[in-house]
Amino acid sequence: MTQVDSVSFAWHDGFLLGHAPMDHVHEEFVRLVAALSRAPDESVQDAFRLLADHMREHFNMENAWMTATAFPARECHIDEHAAVMGSLEAVRPHVVVGNYAEARRLAVALADWFPGHADYLDAPLAHWMCKRRFGGKPVVMRRHIHQFIKESSRRLPTPISAGQHFEDLDKQA
Ligand SMILES: [Fe+2]
Ligand SMILES: [Fe+2]
Repeated sequence: MTQVDSVSFAWHDGFLLGHAPMDHVHEEFVRLVAALSRAPDESVQDAFRLLADHMREHFNMENAWMTATAFPARECHIDEHAAVMGSLEAVRPHVVVGNYAEARRLAVALADWFPGHADYLDAPLAHWMCKRRFGGKPVVMRRHIHQFIKESSRRLPTPISAGQHFEDLDKQA
């Protein structure tokens, strides 16, 4: 697989976590990963830069929320963000010299990694943020529940680590 699967990795309501700022940034993440995967050679450097900038802001935002609110499970979440950014930065030199296959492989690895990260690390943070603000868990309105169930059944039953998805990329760096 050299491209992100456009069916399984398009934004859908199954990705909603009920915390609007996080949902908004996740929708943007999905869009940018898909764009990098499908970018023609002449657009890969721009698509990579946009995704890298987004990810830095995305992860910094979540890290800041966790730190500011003393989120109990913040350490492993912050560590995973750092590991994923490390994998992304390892790909940057390849992109600079025109090895665009590495950028597309990164997009595939990110598409594989994101659903587990969202389920096991981002969702508890979304609940925490909503509970602090409203005193309860978020209410998520999903329009395409059948698709959500189908997607959920494909997800891994246990927490995953960033290393599993980026192992090959790290070896090549
Ligand atoms: Fe996130
Ligand atoms: Fe996260």
